Amino acid sequence: MTPILVFYSQFDSFDEWRDLLAPLLPGVHICQEQDVVDPDDVRYALAWKPPQGFFARYRSLELLVNLGAGVDSLVGRDDLPDIPITRVSDPDMGRMMASYVLFAVLRYARDIPALERAQRERRWHYLHPRLPESIRVGVLGLGELGTYAALELARQGLDVRGWSRSPKSLDGVKCVNGMEQLDSFIASSDILVVMLPLTPQTRGLLDARRLGLLPNGASFINVSRGAVVDQHALTAALASGRIAEATLDVFDREPLPPEDPLWGLDNVLITPHLASVAIPASAAAQIADNIQRLTRGEAVLHRVDPARGY
Ligand code: GLV
Repeated sequence: MTPILVFYSQFDSFDEWRDLLAPLLPGVHICQEQDVVDPDDVRYALAWKPPQGFFARYRSLELLVNLGAGVDSLVGRDDLPDIPITRVSDPDMGRMMASYVLFAVLRYARDIPALERAQRERRWHYLHPRLPESIRVGVLGLGELGTYAALELARQGLDVRGWSRSPKSLDGVKCVNGMEQLDSFIASSDILVVMLPLTPQTRGLLDARRLGLLPNGASFINVSRGAVVDQHALTAALASGRIAEATLDVFDREPLPPEDPLWGLDNVLITPHLASVAIPASAAAQIADNIQRLTRGEAVLHRVDPARGY
């Protein structure tokens, strides 16, 4: 019996992943759900947002690899056996995320939205550039992706602060930690970048009260998960101009429905959840390596702690 790796994603190319993984995993059959003949042969799963119940028939599963960084769609579900869950943890994914965050932050730091609006009105609108060190950028969440982005932002000379649950120390970034620091952290962020994982603790964390702590005219960027934010309160703050601008890659419902009021706000840049994606060419080797570790009885790398939720 040949062990099977079952692949599931509506966003990624199966053929690309199979072609990269197959030479690294001789002896493993890589296929999609519909091509699994005997579910008991399925030992490994590489999956992004599989539907509820997906895992119920794979009772011999030994390893689940999350085809992405955020594992909120996998932890805490009831169709999974008690097996290791790992994530793709890939420097290329970090770089891709950092480039999006840099673009979004620098767009605000250089007042580009005001210039875009002026251009639409054929108006020459000189705004004297601000010095980067005068702009406070708060990176909320210093996991792998948050850390990468915070360091890149600091390299731009911006006044970068980082908040994390537990203590962290990063060169050139003023780090604070713990819930008791959160309110003052938000209140001192001219640009707030949300990079927290979605867990029971972070769901709705940025509620109307906390959004209200942002300085007047602040900019808001969310690249993690929509449900970390009260989207209704965010929309109201953006509509009133209290929060001046937002770049949103993630939403409480995706795809964002056509009738959602966010679409109509001129001070919001919407992108369809693509700030960072798993990159097959760089991630396949680490996925194969983890499968080989497992078969040798060794501990797997990049393991997720389901109790912590990330
Ligand atoms: C994308 O949102 C990811 O978590 O990889």
